[in-house]
Amino acid sequence: MKRAGIIGWPVAHSLSPVLHGYWLKEYGIDGEMVRLPAQPEQFAAEIARVRRDGFAGVNVTVPHKEAAFALAQSHDRAAEICGAVNLLLFGKNGIAGRNTDHVGLSQSLKENLGAEALAGKTVILLGAGGAARAAVLALDELGAAQIHILNRHHDRAASLSNELALKIRAKLLPGPLESWAAIAPTAALLLNTTSAGMAGTPPLALDLTGLPQGAAVCDIVYNPLETELLRNAAARGHKTIDGLGMLMYQAVPSFEAFFGVRSSVTPGLRAALILALNAP
Ligand code: ATR
Repeated sequence: MKRAGIIGWPVAHSLSPVLHGYWLKEYGIDGEMVRLPAQPEQFAAEIARVRRDGFAGVNVTVPHKEAAFALAQSHDRAAEICGAVNLLLFGKNGIAGRNTDHVGLSQSLKENLGAEALAGKTVILLGAGGAARAAVLALDELGAAQIHILNRHHDRAASLSNELALKIRAKLLPGPLESWAAIAPTAALLLNTTSAGMAGTPPLALDLTGLPQGAAVCDIVYNPLETELLRNAAARGHKTIDGLGMLMYQAVPSFEAFFGVRSSVTPGLRAALILALNAP
C-alpha cells in the first residue's frame, strides 16, 4: 500500500485526507493519506518516523512550512521563492522540498477567468504573508504586468516586494491597505490572501465602489466558502472565485508524486469537500 500524510498542528480539520481519499477511491489505488499531528518540536522526529515507515512523502501545513524548507535537501523554484515547502518527497538520495500553492492558484484563476485574462493587466493583492508569495508567483506566471501588494503593515509589503522584484517579471508596487481606494479603478482582479474573513476572524472592511465592473474578485479563504468580501463583490455584479479551487488544484501535483496518477479536479470532488466543510 502506498502511503502519504499531512503534517501540521492542528491538523484535525485538514481537508487533505478527504481530497486524496476521494481520488484514491476514484482511481482504485491501494493507498492512504493520513493526518500527522505534530507540534513544532516533534516535526523532525515525525518526518524521520514516517520516512522509515515507507511513506512516499507528506504534505506540510501550518506551522511547519518553513521548518520543512529547512529540512529539505533540495528545493524547486517555487519553494525557493516562497521560502516555504508544502510538499516533502522521500527519495533514495534525500528529501526534496516543493511548493505547489502557486500551481493551485494559477490553475484556479485560469479555470475561472481563462488563460489570457490577466496578461498585461493590473492586480491588487491583499496580504504579505506566505500565501501572498505564492500568489505573486502565480500572477507572474499568468502574465500580470503590475501587482499592487497592499498590507495592513506596509513594511511587510515593502520587504516582500524588494525580495521578489528580481525573481519575477511583473512590476511589484507595495503599499498600505489605505491606498486601496485610489488604485481600485485600475484593477482587473482583486485577490485576498490575508486571513481576514476566515471563520472566527473579522472580515476585511473593503469598500468595492471604485472597482471596475469587469474586475474579478478572488478570495483564497475557503472556510467560509463565501466570505463577506465575495458576497459583497457578487452583490455588485463582479465575477467571484472562492478558495476551494486553489485547494483542489494545489493537491494535484502532490497526489501524482505520492501515488503516480495525474488526478482531475471535478464537480464531484468539489461537492465532497463542501460536504466535509459543512460536517459538524
Ligand atoms: P499566510 O502565510 O497564511 O499568508 P501570515 O504570514 O500569518 O499567513 O499572513 C497573514 C496575512 O493576513 C498578513 O498579510 C496579515 O497582515 P499583517 O502582515 O499586517 O499582519 C494579514 N491579516 C491578518 N488579519 C488581518 C486583518 N484583520 N486585516 C488585514 N490584514 C490581516
